[in-house]
Amino acid sequence: MIIRILDEKDRARFRKLRLDALDSDPDSFMMTLEEERAVPRMLIEQLLEHPRPNSFFLGAMDGGGLVGMVGANTAPQRKRRHLTEILSLYVKPSHRGQGLGRQLMLDAITRTFRVPEIRRIRLQVVSDNRGAIALYQSLGFQETGHEPEAYFDGMRGFDLLDMSLVRPQTLLA
Ligand SMILES: CC(C)(COP(=O)(O)OP(=O)(O)OC[C@H]1O[C@@H](n2cnc3c(N)ncnc32)[C@H](O)[C@@H]1OP(=O)(O)O)[C@@H](O)C(=O)NCCC(=O)NCCS
Repeated sequence: MIIRILDEKDRARFRKLRLDALDSDPDSFMMTLEEERAVPRMLIEQLLEHPRPNSFFLGAMDGGGLVGMVGANTAPQRKRRHLTEILSLYVKPSHRGQGLGRQLMLDAITRTFRVPEIRRIRLQVVSDNRGAIALYQSLGFQETGHEPEAYFDGMRGFDLLDMSLVRPQTLLA
């Protein structure tokens, strides 16, 4: 298994995995499969075109196939560029429970905190996504907010938790 930065050449693989994610785990993400299929070029694909130390997508490759991914995005504004957002963590069901989600997150966190000005990594997660929340907590993320009914799928509402990880003191030089 290789974890590496995804670039433009990975666009088709990336898009397929992203659509797989919306199909297999629709309750974990904001976009619906239909919405994302209708968009010719997803906004997050910009991260593939111009990966930067504070903004990138990582992919887990198993024999050439993309089986997992996670994104990190940092806004360019001066008062926001201390804050990186984790996006679209996903591992294919066939590859879950083997530590891949943790490896992807650890790699994204390590790369992000190599950028000296990043003070905090944040993310949002649906409040009943116990697996993902357990993973984030085990990595040191703490809950910083709770938004009731942030998503509503026509039948039921989904609360969102805000979580964030503060840059370790040892790195706060
Ligand atoms: C969340 C997800 C990425 C985890 O990937 P994974 O490769 O199975 O995770 P790992 O094997 O690295 O597990 C890491 C930790 O996550 C937690 N975890 C993962 N799946 C879990 C589950 N079903 N129930 C409880 N805890 C779980 C555990 O704390 C685990 O640590 P442990 O191995 O010490 O028990 C994967 O389940 C997934 O893609 N889910 C659908 C998409 C999603 O929910 N993404 C997050 C959006 S915010």
